[in-house]
Amino acid sequence: MNNKTKLRWGILGAARINERLMPAIVEASNSELIAIASRRPGAAAQTLAQYAPQQQVQTYDSLEALLDDPEIDAVYLPLANNEHAEWTLRAVESGKHVLCEKPMALAVADIDAIQAAAQRHKVTVMEGFMYRFHPQHARVRELINSGIIGEVRSVRSSYSFMMRPARMYRLAENVENGGGAMWDIGCYAIHSARMFFDQPAASVTAIAKYVESGADIATSGIIDFSDGKYAHFDFSFERARRCEYEIIGSKGGIKCHNVWCTPTDVPVISWWTEDGQQNEERLTPANHFRLEIEHFSDCVLNGNAPALSLDDAKANCQIIVAALQSAATGQLIKLT
Ligand SMILES: NC(=O)c1ccc[n+]([C@@H]2O[C@H](COP(=O)([O-])OP(=O)(O)OC[C@H]3O[C@@H](n4cnc5c(N)ncnc54)[C@H](OP(=O)(O)O)[C@@H]3O)[C@@H](O)[C@H]2O)c1
Repeated sequence: MNNKTKLRWGILGAARINERLMPAIVEASNSELIAIASRRPGAAAQTLAQYAPQQQVQTYDSLEALLDDPEIDAVYLPLANNEHAEWTLRAVESGKHVLCEKPMALAVADIDAIQAAAQRHKVTVMEGFMYRFHPQHARVRELINSGIIGEVRSVRSSYSFMMRPARMYRLAENVENGGGAMWDIGCYAIHSARMFFDQPAASVTAIAKYVESGADIATSGIIDFSDGKYAHFDFSFERARRCEYEIIGSKGGIKCHNVWCTPTDVPVISWWTEDGQQNEERLTPANHFRLEIEHFSDCVLNGNAPALSLDDAKANCQIIVAALQSAATGQLIKLT
């Protein structure tokens, strides 16, 4: 593969999020969109016509047919949450590299199985937390490393929006089947909060409001990273739009105002210090979906490990599962 300049992608599923990912694959300098598959006859062709109309792309009415296509190096997997682990494993066993939408799995053991299979088949697998590829987080890291806010002591991550009636199907499944806010947006809140702590989480506690199906619609919680370092997360499908995190250190704080930046949004980071400095930085817009695809393709083409490891996916999944358990039982769940 190292003499190739472009990774050849297939998309497994005609999902709504292809609106973002399909153009990202087409635009990525080191990637080529080869095929898209859906189990619904005609849906793959329809998605292609909608989001990448000028492209010569093979369409399949079966997911297996795409996995059998020897022209495809890597698969982007945007199926429903409770299908991710099974189809990631099937793709890996077909010898494909896989970029799987978040959350990669609903249980840590499933990621263990994916990791073992990926090693056996010598393929790269990454969980698709696209936001991490936006340069605004590197700028936040740079500010922390400069020492301006001192030692990181707490992170608050807040994600919410009012769910439109047309999207209520995201609450149709219970949390055990991947439905609800935790698996949909809570995974971001937990992932972004974890980004600023070096040590593993010691325990987690959470409370949640559920709808009739057993899906959570509003959840809040605290992750204990030991030694008084806490991450506070809250997310909801019935609150006004927020997608932000705030880091509080021993000498000041930094806030990232829009984690779900679209390619045209101007990213804003603000920071303040106890000695009276404050600033608001407006950064250059960036497309984190394209940057994610370019990163993954680059890793595969050049044999590098991706920025988001499967150990990171397991750590996130472990906290999600524990937070759901805490919300269901009212208990604090120890992780170590
Ligand atoms: N990274 C992000 O910013 C972001 C944003 C939103 C969602 N996501 C993630 O991406 C994944 C897909 O989310 P989504 O909201 O795009 O999912 P979605 O539109 O509900 O599609 C998920 C899968 O369900 C099937 N499907 C789609 N429409 C259907 C219909 N009308 N009837 C029956 N089946 C249908 C499709 O498989 P077939 O084509 O095989 O039928 C599709 O791959 C989820 O894991 C989600 O967590 C990521």
